[in-house]
Amino acid sequence: MELYVDSANITHIRHAASLGIISGVTTNPSLLAKEDPSVDVKERILEIHALVGGHLSVEVIATDTKGMLREAHDILSWFPDAVIKIPMIPAGLSAVNELYKEEIPTNVTLVFSPTQAIAAANAGAAYVSVFMGRLDDIAMDSNAVLDEICEIWDVQGYESEIISASIRHPIHITQSAKAGADIATVPYNVLIQSLNHPLTDSGLQKFLDDYAKMQAAK
Ligand code: E4P
Repeated sequence: MELYVDSANITHIRHAASLGIISGVTTNPSLLAKEDPSVDVKERILEIHALVGGHLSVEVIATDTKGMLREAHDILSWFPDAVIKIPMIPAGLSAVNELYKEEIPTNVTLVFSPTQAIAAANAGAAYVSVFMGRLDDIAMDSNAVLDEICEIWDVQGYESEIISASIRHPIHITQSAKAGADIATVPYNVLIQSLNHPLTDSGLQKFLDDYAKMQAAK
């Protein structure tokens, strides 16, 4: 399972990229606004693109098909390998299908159920983003939903890649990998948290202390 960082923060993305463990970045309007509501979106997106050469999903704002297509082409004029993030609404599915015919990759976002995921795959989405945390927030078992979608993918052989999104803690990453998601897009703080283990820290400290003892004995 690949890891993406789910962020619009340049410092965080730079650090995550330097670890060599991420192969893409997902953004959304909320993540961009969180950094700086007055941010120039095009500028910020191009800055992120320069940091991480791989997948970069950029979300459209329009809610009608024509508007989404217009925005998609605008984003592609910034950089041609953009992945266009489109909301899981009927007008969005039409836009995904149009872009599919033009061989432009899309990431269908705000997917919460197997039937939505199936529709997105049939429309031609290259990626389907299944939101875990937001399902848990309304007391729905996100792990079961993701499991079901991955099982359907196995049975049907859909080609769209499954991204587990709305990740809130490291267990979501493990659950995504076990379910068979292709990618987990992870907020920076969760990514860093997922690398830590108290036994790693205490183990390293012991190695360093013992090495220092040897040096002192010389
Ligand atoms: C990524 O593609 C999604 O937009 C993001 O993971 C949503 O996360 P949230 O539910 O924490 O806002």
